[in-house]
Amino acid sequence: MPIHENRSSVLDFHANANKPYYITTPIYYVNGQPHLGHAYTSVATDMLARFHRKAGHPVHFLTGTDEHGQKVQQAAEAAGVSPQAYADTVSLQFREMVNALGCSHDDFIRTTESRHKIAATKLWKALEASGQIYLGAYEGWYSVRDEAFYSETELIDGKAPTGAEVIWMKEESYFFRLSQWTQPLLAHYERHPDFICPKGSRNETIAFVGQEGGLKDLSISRSTFSWGIPVPGNPQHVMYVWLDALANYLSAVGYAAADTAGSDSGSLYKFWPASLHVIGKDILRFHCIYWPAFLLAAGLPLPRRVFAHGWWTKDGQKMSKSVGNVLDPMQLVAAHGKDPLRYFMMSEIPFGSNGDFSHLAFANRYNADLANDVGNLTQRVATLLQKHCHGRVPQPGTREVPLQPEALDVSKLLRTDLELLQACDTALQACATHATSLNLKQYCETIIDISRLGNRYIDTEAPWTQAKAGNFERVHSVLYTLVEALRRLSILLEPVIPDGAAALYAQLGVTDPMQQTFASFATPVLPGSSVGIPAPVFPRIDVGGLAGVGAEAPSTAAAAAGGAAGAKPSTGNFKSTQQKQKKDSHNPALVAS
Ligand code: MSP
Repeated sequence: MPIHENRSSVLDFHANANKPYYITTPIYYVNGQPHLGHAYTSVATDMLARFHRKAGHPVHFLTGTDEHGQKVQQAAEAAGVSPQAYADTVSLQFREMVNALGCSHDDFIRTTESRHKIAATKLWKALEASGQIYLGAYEGWYSVRDEAFYSETELIDGKAPTGAEVIWMKEESYFFRLSQWTQPLLAHYERHPDFICPKGSRNETIAFVGQEGGLKDLSISRSTFSWGIPVPGNPQHVMYVWLDALANYLSAVGYAAADTAGSDSGSLYKFWPASLHVIGKDILRFHCIYWPAFLLAAGLPLPRRVFAHGWWTKDGQKMSKSVGNVLDPMQLVAAHGKDPLRYFMMSEIPFGSNGDFSHLAFANRYNADLANDVGNLTQRVATLLQKHCHGRVPQPGTREVPLQPEALDVSKLLRTDLELLQACDTALQACATHATSLNLKQYCETIIDISRLGNRYIDTEAPWTQAKAGNFERVHSVLYTLVEALRRLSILLEPVIPDGAAALYAQLGVTDPMQQTFASFATPVLPGSSVGIPAPVFPRIDVGGLAGVGAEAPSTAAAAAGGAAGAKPSTGNFKSTQQKQKKDSHNPALVAS
């Protein structure tokens, strides 16, 4: 039953319902264990996938592992196992990580699966057929550790920008005519201002592509090791690991079965082009330059958007296996559950910026927002419902609590009650805007603002005082309003913390899945429904007990200062950080010799 006249505008964003929404994480390298950086990409992608499912869109959420390349081959040799056995073990760890984080992926692809090999081979052949591939030779500096080629100008004191040793190498290689795509790419960026987000990443990409002389042709095969997908017609070569890896986005949605014109002959192919590739900014160039160039050259549609998020740092340095400063998400999940970690990562730093991880900030953020703001409000409401309403949702403005669900009568709700519910509707609209513009932190803030409004409302309306005065009609109106506001808040929270939302639903007695959708903002909870026994939904994290979970144990005094040591957001600088990053220079943007 409607409460507000303007409700329809609340659901405006449902206009896109039925539009397939294909969202991907990067596929993770299996040459190292999962760490917090990987967890971050996965959770952000999951939050968006869950949001779009709630909005009614047919969602396809893909994640997986990137299993070829020289580094994997070397790691396997060092471990004394076959590359496949090595990849099997580490891929499983990534699968366990995404499961432990509560990711709702529809598919987990591995580049060693035959469905992928077939699709990557098909993409190669499409590029070859369009005259985009030629055999040449690469001559230049090569770092075995980085699995990367460097130009003379990139070297610093005779070493790779990463500090790795380099050797002069000459290798026969297939090249992709990337140089032909400079102008078409610039035109695409121009015509689609949202293709690369955030703005900083877009500007950096445009500057790179538009540099004097344009793009250089790209080496897309290697012949000095064998752990990869053989080049069609010349098995002495394997495909360059990035061409192989990027093709996963197509392999997983049935590209191999789709006809070459790209029509929908495979059932999943309707999901191409991807709606959003979520990536870290270190792999921007691969996704925003090489990938669209490959697709354009193969005559395939381009993804609608690529979003490059920032990095988690530890003591100011990017968390990475090579630096050795990584945090294990599984340990954090084991210690606190998945929700505190999910909530912290989504709410603490603006999506697109870097942030320094601190255990104290982690605990304080969760305690302040979830344990205090949302948790306390929920418990107060649940306790009052037991005390005054026999554990049932009351009918506003009546003395008796219905024993069976019955239609809502809104006529007794006061303006102040309606204002709180209206604020929830406005929050839904705001959250939709934040989710579509990928402002994940603001999405979380919008929800917490509602819980603060709810806390102010309960303090002002003081149902306990009304009860003492015998004014149960008003007690019931206030409690009804709070149950409904909390139900809406829980729905908004679900994409961020699915378990927490489930606990809130249980507390509020919201068992019908239809009442857990955005659309159900228009169908308020029925008076007479029963609610759960009061229980702490978000038990506080004991900041003193964090010592075993990570390197830095917060002092109780610092912890008592309450949130002072939060993650420090900083706007990542693509250029300077990029130069320092191995992966970025891992880019063999090679010049044909
Ligand atoms: N295999 C490639 C991706 C191929 S996609 C066709 C790769 N893998 S990765 O395992 O190294 O990184 C995967 C993702 O984790 C990237 O988006 C990367 O930015 C992200 N992170 C790795 N370390 C990170 C942080 N310290 N902080 C945040 N995310 C970071 O690249």
